[in-house]
Amino acid sequence: SRAFFLDCDPGIDDALALAYLLARRTPIVGVGSVAGNVDARRGAANARRLLRLFGRLDIPVSVGLEAPGDDHADDANSSFHGRNGLGGVSLPSGPDDVGESTTPDTLRRLARTYGDRLHIIATGPLTNLAHVLAKEPDFGRRVGGMTVMGGAFSVPGNVTPWAEANIASDPAAAAHVVQSDWSRLTFVPIDLTYTHLLNREDQAAVRDLDRPELETLCRIVDFYYDAYQERFRGQHIPLHDPLAAAIAVEDARVVAATRGEVTVRVEHGERRGQTTASPDADGRVTIVSAVDRPCAQILVDTFTSSRQR
Ligand code: BDR
Ligand code: CA
Repeated sequence: SRAFFLDCDPGIDDALALAYLLARRTPIVGVGSVAGNVDARRGAANARRLLRLFGRLDIPVSVGLEAPGDDHADDANSSFHGRNGLGGVSLPSGPDDVGESTTPDTLRRLARTYGDRLHIIATGPLTNLAHVLAKEPDFGRRVGGMTVMGGAFSVPGNVTPWAEANIASDPAAAAHVVQSDWSRLTFVPIDLTYTHLLNREDQAAVRDLDRPELETLCRIVDFYYDAYQERFRGQHIPLHDPLAAAIAVEDARVVAATRGEVTVRVEHGERRGQTTASPDADGRVTIVSAVDRPCAQILVDTFTSSRQR
């Protein structure tokens, strides 16, 4: 059986991805944070509070790496995720104990313990993973695989006309990851995630379940509708991170994908963070272009059939 690690920057859609993974009882062996939507320390605190909300403080949280050099956790992200990363909703806090070991060290330890059973779901910038690979270049071959939410291949970027947010936050790290060998490396780019939307009715269906922790989750998600006001008139939100999670756990089955090599533009300039794919049957990366069912349906079904522990 597989063991999952969520490396994330919560972040509203990261929160939704985590809630979904918990609801379907995914075996999660750790949650790590990385600078992106919020800084890494805040991200870890948010993860911890979400786990408390869902009664799962048994899952260890580690603090990952802050943004490298001149790449900052973009202020623009606070307009998408709110100042605290969770739509301004304050979650019950308690001791925010996060492990002593950093996310990269935790990942290296888990790889030794679980080997090819370990699967990483990365829904933030790839800073932690690049750090792991710098120390252990064969890391990607020793674990079972990694599913990354990131990249914009045939559509405009969402932070610049060229780049998607997770890649743009740390292009050098992303470049390192795609140049490394992995037993399986799957990318879920915004080309696909912007076609998997949650509408107000889907959200209402989750609200109607009348469970306090899901009501809190829905309040966090409310903010995301406002953030996407311009693009979706406040009626839809894209399920970036939940879709990557659903693909990783195979609730969403891949029905179309491109296999190839991915290049990440690291040079400073307007195209920094751009991702391009060159198809190659023996390539290192699988870029998902279609799955068998809407992510919104997966989420609603999962929350509906879950019970609080
Ligand atoms: C990605 O960027 C972040 O803001 C979201 O959480 C998601 O991981 C989408 O480009
Ligand atoms: Ca994210």
